Amino acid sequence: MPLVNTKQMFADAYVNHYAVGAFNVDSIAMIQAVLQAAENCKSPVIISLSKGSREFMHPGNIKELVLCVSKDITIPFAIHLDHGKSVQLCKDCIDEGFTSVMIDASAYDFEENIRQTKEVVEYAHARGVVVESELGAIAGIEDDIDVNDKYGRFTHPADVVEFVSKTNIDSLAIAIGTAHGAYKFKPGQTPHLRFDILDEIEEKLPGFPLVLHGSSSVPQERLALINQYGGKMKEAIGIPEALLNQASKKSVCKINVGSDLRVAFTGEIRKFFYTQPQEFEIRKYTTPARNAVKEMVKDKMINVFCCAGHGEFSK
Ligand code: G3H
Ligand code: ZN
Repeated sequence: MPLVNTKQMFADAYVNHYAVGAFNVDSIAMIQAVLQAAENCKSPVIISLSKGSREFMHPGNIKELVLCVSKDITIPFAIHLDHGKSVQLCKDCIDEGFTSVMIDASAYDFEENIRQTKEVVEYAHARGVVVESELGAIAGIEDDIDVNDKYGRFTHPADVVEFVSKTNIDSLAIAIGTAHGAYKFKPGQTPHLRFDILDEIEEKLPGFPLVLHGSSSVPQERLALINQYGGKMKEAIGIPEALLNQASKKSVCKINVGSDLRVAFTGEIRKFFYTQPQEFEIRKYTTPARNAVKEMVKDKMINVFCCAGHGEFSK
């Protein structure tokens, strides 16, 4: 049965120094692209849905929908709720068959974050579902960080042991400089991650899987394609693949990617509409867009996260 939770995936990723990709999807075409890429690469994978994607696709039946399009898939995959902002949403997704949920109570104070996370963990573990939670602020560019504070709004290593032991979570999302969206750094800034903080956390939580959010790399050729065919995206700078690769060799076992897939999909659609304006056949323009996402995911699995070839552990 290829639908699994992430427990074994992360255990294998940790000891073999790779990371599993969690890819944000919001259509059947995107689910197919991600699953087929993983199947081609023989890689484990995480199908990730935000609250909005779940509502857009089919709240209540996401598991059935994914199972429908995964009949030929043999690699292990998880269905994950990304950034669950309420305990109730996490519980609903668990009831619907998600195998992994993220409770994101990071906007609350430390004690409230623990309280909400603990409630989700108790509900999830009783049903064989794993839980990710977040400490620190995974935000945008670093312009409002207090430079006098060594950790700023990043995850404070001093908090992690208490948080993990009091909540009993299965993985921890940390803030070390990644950011959501396509515009992660300002033009002229050199992208960097706080590997010093990652190392400190790793030292305090040996063997424990960490998660990086906001990890799109924003390939410039994909951006150029959008703008070449009528798009108006501003200069966008993502997380360099080399840094993600470095993190995947440490205790980062899950890397989240959303914007890159949307950029790849959109570029191909724009190109199609621009070059073949007479066409209106949906399958004709969805096919190159889906292929672009598939190729991008494969590239990340093989060259960046190094999870390719690791899809056999659960058999
Ligand atoms: O939770 C979603 C991810 O962190 C995606 O971030 O769009 O910057 O790749 P991204
Ligand atoms: Zn995220």
